Amino acid sequence: MTISQLSKKNVQALTPYQSARRLGGNGDVWLNANEYPTSPNFNLLDRTFNRYPEAQPESVVNGYAAYAGVKPENVIVTRGGDESIELIIRAFCEANESVLYCPPTYGMYSVSAETCGIALKTVPLTADFQLNLAEIEANLAGVKVVFVCSPNNPTGTLVNRADLIQLLEMTKGKAIVVVDEAYIEFCPEATMVNELANFPHLAIVRTLSKAFALAGLRCGFTLANAELINVLQKVIAPYPLPVPVSDIAAQALQTQGLNEMKQRVAEVLDNRAWLVEELAKISSVEQIFASEANYVLVKFQDGEKVFNALWQQGIILRDQHKALGLQNCIRITIGTKSELERTIAAIKSVQ
Ligand SMILES: Cc1ncc(COP(=O)(O)O)c(C=O)c1O
Repeated sequence: MTISQLSKKNVQALTPYQSARRLGGNGDVWLNANEYPTSPNFNLLDRTFNRYPEAQPESVVNGYAAYAGVKPENVIVTRGGDESIELIIRAFCEANESVLYCPPTYGMYSVSAETCGIALKTVPLTADFQLNLAEIEANLAGVKVVFVCSPNNPTGTLVNRADLIQLLEMTKGKAIVVVDEAYIEFCPEATMVNELANFPHLAIVRTLSKAFALAGLRCGFTLANAELINVLQKVIAPYPLPVPVSDIAAQALQTQGLNEMKQRVAEVLDNRAWLVEELAKISSVEQIFASEANYVLVKFQDGEKVFNALWQQGIILRDQHKALGLQNCIRITIGTKSELERTIAAIKSVQ
């Protein structure tokens, strides 16, 4: 047998996550990964590299708890939000159980489940990108984890709070509901954090990759009640965070870091409003979906043509043509004003 044939059947069948980096491109305007367009500047304060790090660095856990308005016992820090997603699947799903998610949405729920050999159930979002609660309820048998992304990637829409509450009610005692709040800083009032007090099976995924401008750091979190956090503590790697990561994360969560994050959010929202205004003037644009995040989903008459034309010019966007119900749609990350100006000019010039 070849090495590939020796690998697990589910791994043989796996299509890896098509990350922006993996898809590549040769550009100088990168608007395909919902990153912040410029880097913050930090100095390393801790230069002790010969010792293993703290399993859960106190400065990061306490800093994030204070920022999120929860107790440290409600926080686990992970190697990006992606590790949080996988930990929850690994800790809660038996081999014969499944995860449920609602496409079009973030691709790692399915990739992580498939990697763990866990079956997938999908209940598509409605035409206005909301939960189809009746269908979810009808499909809950055997489901151990439900993933909901809000604001949703790639649509930018928030899931109705009342629907999330109803989902939490119908899954009580049966399944974990994960609300992925990777983009919550762009609409902080929508957070479900205050529902942690009511629902022991709610887990909220967060990250420093978006509004904190630290995608390269790989630092994320799960917020939940202590019992759920303690389950995740059992399965996480012994030293998930390298010393430089926790050093910088802790700095980003202090007052100055938080203020800078808020300034970034304000600037992104301004630039988003400008982009939407300009897109609305372009005749090849069919629809601009209202976004609560640092990206905008846009439907073109011919999405592929626009995507390829910009790709050729080194403006790398994210093609959503193959995502469920998103034919001719492109997701554009909010970059700097000048990057967006170039993008608008390039879209206008596509014949
Ligand atoms: C919805 C959503 N969740 C989670 C993540 C993972 O973020 P990270 O692993 O960088 O923290 C992303 C990244 O793009 C995302 O879009």
